[in-house]
Amino acid sequence: MQLAVLSQQPKRWTNACLIVGIGASGALTQAAKTIDSAANGLVRQAVKQGDISGKPGETLMLVTTDKNLPPRILLAGIGGDSTSEKEHRTICQAVVRAVRSSGAERVVSTLAAETVAGNDIEWRCHTEALEVVEAAYRFTAHDTIGKKVTAKSAQKKETLKAWDFLISGTKKTAQLKAVKLAVTQAEALSHGCSLARDLGNLAPNICTPDYLAKQARSMGKDFKKLKVSVLDEAQMKKIGMHSLLSVSRGSRQPAKLICMEYNGAAKSKKPLVLVGKGITFDTGGISLKPGAAMDEMKYDMCGAAGVFGVMQTCVELDLNCNLVCVVAAAENMPDGDASRPGDVVATLSGQTVEILNTDAEGRLVLCDALTYIKKYKPAAVIDVATLTGACIIALGHVASAVMANDDTLADHLVEAGMAANDRTWPLPLWDDYQSQLDSNFADMGNIGGRAAGSITAGCFLSRFAKDYSWAHLDIAGVAWRSGGKAKGATGRPVPLLMEYLQKHHVS
Ligand code: BES
Ligand code: MN
Ligand code: ZN
Repeated sequence: MQLAVLSQQPKRWTNACLIVGIGASGALTQAAKTIDSAANGLVRQAVKQGDISGKPGETLMLVTTDKNLPPRILLAGIGGDSTSEKEHRTICQAVVRAVRSSGAERVVSTLAAETVAGNDIEWRCHTEALEVVEAAYRFTAHDTIGKKVTAKSAQKKETLKAWDFLISGTKKTAQLKAVKLAVTQAEALSHGCSLARDLGNLAPNICTPDYLAKQARSMGKDFKKLKVSVLDEAQMKKIGMHSLLSVSRGSRQPAKLICMEYNGAAKSKKPLVLVGKGITFDTGGISLKPGAAMDEMKYDMCGAAGVFGVMQTCVELDLNCNLVCVVAAAENMPDGDASRPGDVVATLSGQTVEILNTDAEGRLVLCDALTYIKKYKPAAVIDVATLTGACIIALGHVASAVMANDDTLADHLVEAGMAANDRTWPLPLWDDYQSQLDSNFADMGNIGGRAAGSITAGCFLSRFAKDYSWAHLDIAGVAWRSGGKAKGATGRPVPLLMEYLQKHHVS
C-alpha cells in the first residue's frame, strides 16, 4: 500500500474513492459539504433519506457518473466531538472494509481533519495509516510452494493500492511536515509488524532456526548500519551454552544464536538489547504436548519475530539509537537424543538447571542468551517470549505480561503499551515465588509448579539478568489469534516496543 499526504485535492479521480465524514445526527463535515455542493446535494440527500446517521463505524458508498467528481464517495459516520480513540479505530477499520469490498484503487481520505477527543491530526493520520495497512495485510509467502502462481491466486490480489491523506485545512507547512512524518513512521512500523506476522505465519518446516539466521543476514546486507553475526552449535558449545543446546538436541535442526547490532548513535551510547524466544516449533519434547492445536506451536518464535520487526522498523527509519537484537533459535522435538526430564545441564552463567519438564524450554534458551548479551553493556534489556500458557489464563489475549527487576522500566513499558494500543500489564517478581524453583539436584529446577506459572518463569529468567536493568514480556496471549478466519500472527508487541524505543532510546 502506497501512503501519501496531500495538501490539495488531486487533479484526477481515476478509479478513486473520496472518504468524507458524517458527524453526529447527520451533520455534514466541511469535506462532506464541499463534495455535496459539487455533486448537487448528493450527500445531503443520503442523510435525508436516512441512509446514514453519523454513528462511528457506519459507512455508505455512493457512486457518481460525473467526470469531475470522484467515481466513489464513501460517507463514514464519525460521531461528535467526543469521539474516542477506540471509536476512531472502529471508524478506520470500517472504511477500510468498505473500500476494499469496492473496486477502488486509490483512496483520498479526509477523515483526519475531524476531531478525536484529546488527539491531534498527527495521531489521527498515524492511527488511520496503521489500521489501513494492518487490514490490507495478506499472507502470501506460501502461495508458490510447489506450484506456479495460479490465475485464481492472482485474482485475490489487492486492487486497493494507494491511500492518500488529504489535509487541506492546514496552511502551516510545519504541520504538514509533522503529518508526513507521522505517516512515514506508521508505514515503517507497519512494515515491522508485517515482517513479524510473516515470520510467525510461515510453516515450521520452512521457518527453521537456519531460516531465521538467513533472514537476519539478508537484513544485514540491506542496511549498512546493521551488523549480523550468528553462533552455530559448535561455537555455543565452546563457550558453555549447554542450557540452550539441551533444547535442540532432539531436533535435526541445529540451534542458532542470531545477533543483530544496529549502530545509529554514538558508539559510546549504551544500546537497548532485545532478546527474542525463537522456538520455531515446540512439541514439548519428551514432555510431549497433547495433539490438539499443536500446529499453533509454530508461533513459539513470535518473540523472535517481534524483535526482527522492531529491527526492521528501526533500520528503515534510520533511528538515532543503538539497538541490539538477539534471537535464541531452536526447535523443541522428541528424539532418541532429546533431553530427558531429570537431566541436569550447566548454563552459560555457571548455574546448573534440573530439566524437570522439557516443555519449559523457552527459559532454557533465554537464560543463556541473557548471559551472553552482557557483553553489549546494555542500557536496558527486554526479553520477549511466548513463554507460558499460564499468561493466557491470567491476562487473556488483551495484554502481554511484564515482569522486571527495575520498576521504572516496567512503568515505561506499561505506558508505551497504552500509547501504542498494544498493552502490557505488570506481574510481581517477589522473592516469595523464587523457592518454587528449588531443586534437590541442581541450583534450580526449570519449572515451579502450577501456581503462578508465568511468574515462576519470570523468576527463573531473573536469575540470569542480575547485572542490568531488565524486563521480560510474556506475549503468549497476544502474539497470535487462534482458530477461524482471523487465525494468524498479530505483529504484537512490535508497536509497544517501537513506542518504548522511540521515547527512551532515540536522541
Ligand atoms: N510455548 C509454550 C507456552 C505457550 C503455551 C504459549 C500455549 C502459547 C500457548 C511453552 O514453551 C510451554 O510449553 N510452557 C509450559 C510451561 C510448563 C511446562 C511449566 C506451559 O505453559 O504449559
Ligand atoms: Mn514448551
Ligand atoms: Zn515454548
